[in-house]
Amino acid sequence: MSTGLAVGIHDLSFATTEFVLPHLELAGHTGADPAKYHVGLGQRSMSIAAADEDIVTMAASAAAPLVARWGADRIRTVVLATETSIDQSKAAGVYVHSLLGLSPAARVVELKQACYSATAAVQFALGLVHRNPGQLVLVIATDVSRYDPDSPGEATQGAAAVAMLVGADPVLLRVEEPSGLSTVDVMDFWRPNYRSTALVAGRESVTAYLQALEGVWKDYTEQGGRPLGDFRAFCYHQPFTKMAHKAHRHLLGFTGNVVDEDRIAAMLALTTAYNEVVGNSYTASVYLALASLLDHADDLDGEAIAIASYGSGSVAEFFGVTAVPGYREHLRTEEHRRAVERRRPIDFAAYRELQAHALPVDGGHHPLPRQTTGDYRLAALSGHKRVYERR
Ligand code: CAA
Repeated sequence: MSTGLAVGIHDLSFATTEFVLPHLELAGHTGADPAKYHVGLGQRSMSIAAADEDIVTMAASAAAPLVARWGADRIRTVVLATETSIDQSKAAGVYVHSLLGLSPAARVVELKQACYSATAAVQFALGLVHRNPGQLVLVIATDVSRYDPDSPGEATQGAAAVAMLVGADPVLLRVEEPSGLSTVDVMDFWRPNYRSTALVAGRESVTAYLQALEGVWKDYTEQGGRPLGDFRAFCYHQPFTKMAHKAHRHLLGFTGNVVDEDRIAAMLALTTAYNEVVGNSYTASVYLALASLLDHADDLDGEAIAIASYGSGSVAEFFGVTAVPGYREHLRTEEHRRAVERRRPIDFAAYRELQAHALPVDGGHHPLPRQTTGDYRLAALSGHKRVYERR
């Protein structure tokens, strides 16, 4: 049912980590041909969290500029999507709510379904805005992607948070009805509670992703969605950026469209600029693709953009957004460039040391090394409690 109210994404900002590991450095130690990473996977570097960074510090860094621009008063709901949760009970968003000084008159929850749940968060937020168009919902996707050392997934790690304000009469993007949906019970990628790194059936996960794309497109069409040719650009979940190429080629192929490699490459390059240097940020990845498109495309005023969200396990969703005329005045391109460029390169030994770093579990007071120069840090673990501080 359409109420005629325009709802969508009012603002969008991302943050990433203190450190970065170039794939050239990784290749020097794994023995892989750098071209496998650069060309085969489409990755140049990956964001690595400092010992005093986590999903909360990245989430607060991503969301703070939104609160600074639009104020805290109208934010009555915070939905934080992650698959690298830090607590089985307390929502990570409660720490973020506190770090940002949001009003106590708010609800805060955490959502999980692999890399997909930020899209569920956006859709749920739209429902809340329809009930109360005066409010803004803060949606945050934040993840640190980790695979076992020396596993095929190691080169596809990364970390980032994307914060979005969802509201009525958005200045960036209107979110359209309908959505195409798909849920299939498949074990392509998962992380049992006792593990800090993900398990993955690599090749099968690529196939599962492509099958889910077929499923969401079929449903999108049956629900009365736009024809494929209407979309000026396609933002895909990018576990590695070459996956977007596989996905788009597949979508064009099974819908009977011409696969023109040059056109695909030119369009997708606009969406992969951040992910190819940040790596897989799980829930944030497809919205990092969207940020990249908005920051790098010439002019999308009034144009339709497709969002294809995939989370292993699996749940997927396909929907359209329209760029609001004048949206470019509200972009954060310069801040996003700085977030990527401020990262400090580390060598392989420092990277492996950070990956091996585990938080103590004895309940004692453990200050954490001061490594990040960002605005928020995880200062200590004390009595099994996380202690955050703001610069
Ligand atoms: N020069 C150029 N290209 C090269 C090359 C070279 N020297 N050497 C290899 N390549 C190419 C290969 O031909 C291959 O390309 P195609 O996929 O087009 O065939 C590509 O580089 C990768 O090579 P391999 O298939 O040999 O790589 P791999 O087996 O070591 O690992 C992977 C690939 C399975 C994707 C692995 O990185 C992985 O397990 N990643 C994590 C899982 C993942 O990201 N899955 C994606 C779908 S699931 C999802 O989307 C959810 C999520 O976020 C995890």
